[in-house]
Amino acid sequence: MSNARLTIVYYSTYGTNHRMAEIAADAAKAAGAEVRLRKVRETAPEAVWAGQAPWKAHLEATAHVAEATPADMEWANAYLFSAPTRFGTAASQIRAFIDTLGGLWAQGKLSNKAASAMSSAQNAHGGQETTVQTLNNTFCHWGCILVPPGYTDPVTFQSGGNPYGVTVTANGEPIPDAVQNAIRHQARRLAEYAAKIAS
Ligand SMILES: Cc1cc2nc3c(=O)[nH]c(=O)nc-3n(C[C@H](O)[C@H](O)[C@H](O)COP(=O)(O)O)c2cc1C
Repeated sequence: MSNARLTIVYYSTYGTNHRMAEIAADAAKAAGAEVRLRKVRETAPEAVWAGQAPWKAHLEATAHVAEATPADMEWANAYLFSAPTRFGTAASQIRAFIDTLGGLWAQGKLSNKAASAMSSAQNAHGGQETTVQTLNNTFCHWGCILVPPGYTDPVTFQSGGNPYGVTVTANGEPIPDAVQNAIRHQARRLAEYAAKIAS
């Protein structure tokens, strides 16, 4: 899979989606892909995040992670986006990054990439699937080739059964082993299809 180039873009307030992105990055690298792990910029005002200790702590703990740029999107032949659920859709921080990509889109430079999405939410039925689907909508606008996990491996059944993309019910808590395995499967599958597309 030496020609798979994944850009993994995440936003996280409390750490869940950061950890999901890290697990995916490690699995894709182990499968032979080149990986760029990128966070998106925090857009909430300091007055908001500084008043919430877990949010502030996560921002400080991930200060070293590079921010996603349009160049990372052009470089990749596969995208994996991971974002927390906010009122049934993806956090506005990741949408703000997406909204910087009109120039690349207009040049066709986001098309023909393998793409997949993950999410988390506080509640099992609080919008996890809709959040993944809203990210998939964007991938369709870009002309990407969607690579959902489906039920291509027993890990989907073991981790809650979401075929659209791995999701977890969490607010920064550790990610259950079954969900970690599902993330690894989704990342490996995305890398596999990125390599096929590139060949
Ligand atoms: C403004 C706001 C809106 C949220 N909306 C939802 C929601 O619609 N459904 C839900 O189950 N959880 C919701 N949550 C909880 C987050 O999805 C949860 O904190 C997230 O999964 C944690 O991910 P992170 O650790 O990567 O930040 C919301 C949280 C905030 C702050």
